[in-house]
Amino acid sequence: MLRKEQNDLLTQTGPGTPAGRLFRSYWIPALLTEELPENECPPVRVKLLSERLLAFRDTQGRYGLIDEFCAHRGVSLWFGRNEENGLRCPYHGWKYDHTGQCIEVPSEPAESGFCQKIKLKSYPLVERGGVLWTYMGPPEQQPPLPEWEFATVPTDQSFTSKRIQESNWLQAMEGGIDSSHVSFLHRGDLNSDPLFRGAKGNQYNLKDSRPVFEVVESPGGLYIGARRNAENGHYYWRITQWVMPSFTMIAPRGNHSVHGHFWIPIDDENCWTWSFDYHPIRKLTEAELQAMRDGKGIHVKYVSGTFRPLANKDNDYLIDRTAQKAGRTYSGVEGIAMQDASLQESMGPIVDRMKENLVSTDNGIIMARHRLLRSVKALLDKGVAPPGVDPAHQRVRSAAVVLPPDQPFKDAAKDALTARPGAAPASV
Ligand code: FES
Ligand SMILES: [Fe+2]
Repeated sequence: MLRKEQNDLLTQTGPGTPAGRLFRSYWIPALLTEELPENECPPVRVKLLSERLLAFRDTQGRYGLIDEFCAHRGVSLWFGRNEENGLRCPYHGWKYDHTGQCIEVPSEPAESGFCQKIKLKSYPLVERGGVLWTYMGPPEQQPPLPEWEFATVPTDQSFTSKRIQESNWLQAMEGGIDSSHVSFLHRGDLNSDPLFRGAKGNQYNLKDSRPVFEVVESPGGLYIGARRNAENGHYYWRITQWVMPSFTMIAPRGNHSVHGHFWIPIDDENCWTWSFDYHPIRKLTEAELQAMRDGKGIHVKYVSGTFRPLANKDNDYLIDRTAQKAGRTYSGVEGIAMQDASLQESMGPIVDRMKENLVSTDNGIIMARHRLLRSVKALLDKGVAPPGVDPAHQRVRSAAVVLPPDQPFKDAAKDALTARPGAAPASV
C-alpha cells in the first residue's frame, strides 16, 4: 500500500514534478526509427512526460524534437512544411531548425535579427537500435547514450514495437515485475504461443503456481528471483531485471528470443509500452519476425495506421468467454500483451494504492516502489544521479536457471545476469 501523497509522487511525471524530474534523468525511447523513414518526411506528434512535442527529420537527416507549437501565435507545427533544413509554420512562414532555433521570420527585415531571439524548447533525438531516444533533463547533466543490449546487438537480432496503454506508467510497469501472474493469466499461452512454446521451463511454471520470491537490489534496480520447484529437490529460478525507472526484462524460455519492456509516461493517464525481443547471439528467424509482426508473444495487432491495440477498452478487448471457460485463455483475452494491458487498464487510469492488500509475491513491486521513492528524494534533496543512468547499469540480462537448493540465485547466476557480447543467455 502507498499513502496518497506517495502514490501521487510516483504517478505524476509532468514538468516540475518529482517523478518527472526522475524520468528526465534518463535517455528514454521516444519513437521507432521507422516513424521518420526519410529526410524531409512528415513530422510526428510526440507526447512525453505530459509535454507536447514534435519530431522531424530534416534535409540532411538530422533529427529534431521540438515544442509542438509555433512561437508566433501557437499553431501546431505538425502542419509545418519540412523544407530546406527546417520546419516552416504554414500560417505566417516562421521557420525553425532541428534545434528549435527560429531561422526565418519572412515578414520582418532580415537585418533586424529578430528571429535569432526566438527559440523553441527542444531535446536531443538520437538513433540507436531502431529506436529514437531522447533526453529531456538539464543539458549539463546529459548522460552517455543508452547501452541496453537489445539496442546494441546487430539489427537482425532484434525486434522492437510499441503500443499505447491507457493507464499510468507505474501500474503497467508493476505488471512487468510481477512474475507470479504468469502461472495464472498467461497459462493458456505458454504451450501455444510460437514465441514461448516448447521450453522446458514452461512446465515448471505451470506445475507450481506458488513461487517463492527473493528480491535483491542490483546496481541499477532489482533482481527479482521467482523460485519454483523442479526435479530432485532443485529449484527453477526465473530472474527478472528491473532497472530504474521502468526497464524490465523477463526471463527467457528455451532458445526463444529474450524480451522485455519500457513503460514511458505519455501523460499521467497514458503510457507507451515499448516491447523488445532479441537474441544475444543469433539472428531472429523469419518465422519469429513474422510472429512478432502478427502480434504474438509480447507484441500486439493494431488498429490500422495507429499504435492503439486492435483489442482495446472500447471493444472490451474482444473478450471470448467460451475460450475463458474452456481454459484456452485464462481471462478470455487473446495474447499475452493484451492479457496484461486489459487488466492493468481495468484498474482505472491511476490505481488507488491505498486500497491494495499486498502479499509475499508482491515483494518485487514493494521494493521497486521504495527504491523509486528513495531515488527521487536523493535526486531532489542532494542532486544524486539515480540508479540506471550509468550505462554499466544497463548492461544486464534476465536469466532462467535450475539450481541446487543451497545456492543463492544471485551468486550462482551472477555472470548470467550481465550482458556479455557473444555469450549465450542462461535459459531453460
Ligand atoms: S503562428 Fe506560426 S508563423 Fe504565425
Ligand atoms: Fe504478463
